[in-house]
Amino acid sequence: MNASHDYQRVYVWQQPVRWFHWINALAIITLGVTGWLITHPPALMNSGEAWTSFWFGKVRFVHFASGYVLLANFLVRIYWSFAGNKYASWRNFLPLTKAQVREVWQVLKVDIMQSSDKAVHALGHNAVAYFTYAATGLLTVFQVVTGFALMAPTSQSWIPRLFTWVTPLFGSEGSVRTFHYAGMWLFVIFTFIHVYLVFYHDYVEGHGVMSSIIGGWKFMEKHKIAAQEATGISGLPTKSRKAGSRPKA
Ligand code: HEM
Repeated sequence: MNASHDYQRVYVWQQPVRWFHWINALAIITLGVTGWLITHPPALMNSGEAWTSFWFGKVRFVHFASGYVLLANFLVRIYWSFAGNKYASWRNFLPLTKAQVREVWQVLKVDIMQSSDKAVHALGHNAVAYFTYAATGLLTVFQVVTGFALMAPTSQSWIPRLFTWVTPLFGSEGSVRTFHYAGMWLFVIFTFIHVYLVFYHDYVEGHGVMSSIIGGWKFMEKHKIAAQEATGISGLPTKSRKAGSRPKA
């Protein structure tokens, strides 16, 4: 049992970040499953009228609709990285300071090499997590660009039409498909590692990482909060608020 009683409750993830997370997760799972079905369509047959068994059309429709959701959600998150609190800020996602690089090294020593037991106690994400999420943001952009490029030849809508330049860049529609398909597997690999690490950090650190993406709050000893704020990662220290009081958004 932890003997320390100087825990502070901190509101870290505002509503737009939490909504972004769950909408993004749902969209990626839907896109992954429907995308996989598009690559490996099972030969489903029945004796009904053709118009009652247009299932592949429905799979494609769900894929495309989720693509629009993924894009809209991503754009809102970009807006929030300028409008939201310091934990949501775009600054954390770019390697701008020496403290971030030092933290990357320390996290790798604890999580991967297991050569140190000095865990990094971050209120937002740790620096490795922030950079990994920046990479998944790039992967999202890649899937959006290649996805709309694949949609462009059969669509009159203006968004897919913006991406007609992509296929010539890849040489053929076949190679756009191959890269788009590979993008799906990168998301699958990311998801397994992400879920494992969330359980791992929740258990080892005990800061309430898992529940924070539902309720927004984390819990940490005050001296660890002070040490983390001193690194400057996750922006400048927040103005003090009455502990436990409900903040805006
Ligand atoms: C804005 C985002 C996206 C759009 C607009 C989009 C659009 C498309 C289009 C138009 C196709 C071709 C469908 C067909 O010819 O029947 C396709 C295929 C596919 N998509 Fe997406 N997609 C998006 C995101 C994603 C994401 C995030 C994933 C994975 C998590 C994914 C996985 C796949 C897969 C695996 C295929 C099948 C590729 C093949 O073998 O032809 N897509 N997508």
